[in-house]
Amino acid sequence: MATIGNDISQAKKLLLQGELVGIPTETVYGLAANALNPEAVTQIFVAKERPSFDPLIVHVASIDQVQKFVTAIPEKAKQLARHFWPGPLTLVLPKQSIIPDIVTSGLPTVGIRCPDHDLTRQLLSELPFPLAAPSANPFGYVSPTTAEHVNNQLGLKLKYILDGGACRIGLESTIIGFENDQPVIYRRGGISEEEISTVIGKVTHKLTASNPIAPGQLDSHYAPSKRFFLGDIDKLKKDQVGKKVGVLHFKGDFDSSVQGHLVLSKTGNLEEAARNLFAALRQFDQMDIEVILAEPAPDFGIGKAINDRLKRAATK
Ligand code: TXA
Ligand code: MG
Repeated sequence: MATIGNDISQAKKLLLQGELVGIPTETVYGLAANALNPEAVTQIFVAKERPSFDPLIVHVASIDQVQKFVTAIPEKAKQLARHFWPGPLTLVLPKQSIIPDIVTSGLPTVGIRCPDHDLTRQLLSELPFPLAAPSANPFGYVSPTTAEHVNNQLGLKLKYILDGGACRIGLESTIIGFENDQPVIYRRGGISEEEISTVIGKVTHKLTASNPIAPGQLDSHYAPSKRFFLGDIDKLKKDQVGKKVGVLHFKGDFDSSVQGHLVLSKTGNLEEAARNLFAALRQFDQMDIEVILAEPAPDFGIGKAINDRLKRAATK
C-alpha cells in the first residue's frame, strides 16, 4: 500500500521523478503527475484504467500561471477565475502546445483549475510544473474524499498520498467551457449555477452524455458497485421485498435501529450533504446489503450537483 503522510518534500521528490502522488483538494482527492511530462501522465491513465479519450484537469498554484498554458482567456473566464479561484471551478480554455496532447485527449482545449487546499497549493508553488490530476478512483467509481479512500483502491499503484484530511466540499469542481466566448457548464459541481450567475449573468449547459468531451457526464459514472435506485424511498422499498436494502436519506435523524440507514445531513444542510455523499456510497459498498435506495436532495444550489451524482450512480 502507499504511505500516507503530510510530507510535502516527499510528494515533491516523487513528482519530480515522474511518479504519481495522491493529493488532497477541497473537492475530492486527485491522482497527480507532472502535467508537462507525457510518460508521467500515461501512468495516470494506466493506474485508473481510464480510457484515453477522457481528458485530465491541470492544477496550477495561482491565477498568474494560467497564461503560460492557454492561448486566450475570455473576459468572463477572467471574471470567474478572479472571483472563485482558488476554488472548485475548472475553466476549459484553448491550450498552448506546451500542454501534451495526452493530457487533453487530443482536444485543442485544456481544463485548468487552482485548487483551494493549503498543502496542495504549497506543493504546486514549489514545483516547476503544473499537476495533471483526475479524481483518484478507478474509472467510473465514486471519487475519494479521504486519503484512506485513495489507498483502499489505488494504494498498490502509487507510493505516496499527501493527507489533507477529509475534503471540505466533497463533490468535484464545476466545469465551464466557452463557446463563442460565452460560458457553458459542462459539469455541475462545487460551485452552483446560481453563484456563477451572480458573477457573469446567465449561463447555458451541456450536461448530457451526448457530450463526448466530458466523460464525467457519462450516464453511468460515480457509481458504487451495488445496485442503486433513486426516488421515493417508500415506493422503492415495495419492489425490494425480501432483499437486504441500504437506505440513503438526504435529511433527518439517524435511525440506528434500522440496519443500513445513512443520513447525509441531520438538518438538511446541502453543503454538509455534499461533503458526506461519496463516503456514504463507499460505506454501503462495505455493508451486508444487496441494494441501495436513495432519495434526491432539494434541487437547488449544490443540491443540483448532488442529484447529478445520484442519477449517474443509479443502476440503468
Ligand atoms: O474537482 C475536480 O475537478 C477533481 C479534483 C482532483 O481537481 N478532478 C476531477 O477530475 O474531477 P476527473 O478527471 O475525474 O474529471 C475531469 C472531467 C472529465 O469528465 C473530463 O472529461 C473533463 O473534466 N475535462 C477535462 N478537460 C476537458 C476539456 N478540455 N474539455 C471538456 N472537458 C474536459
Ligand atoms: Mg473523476
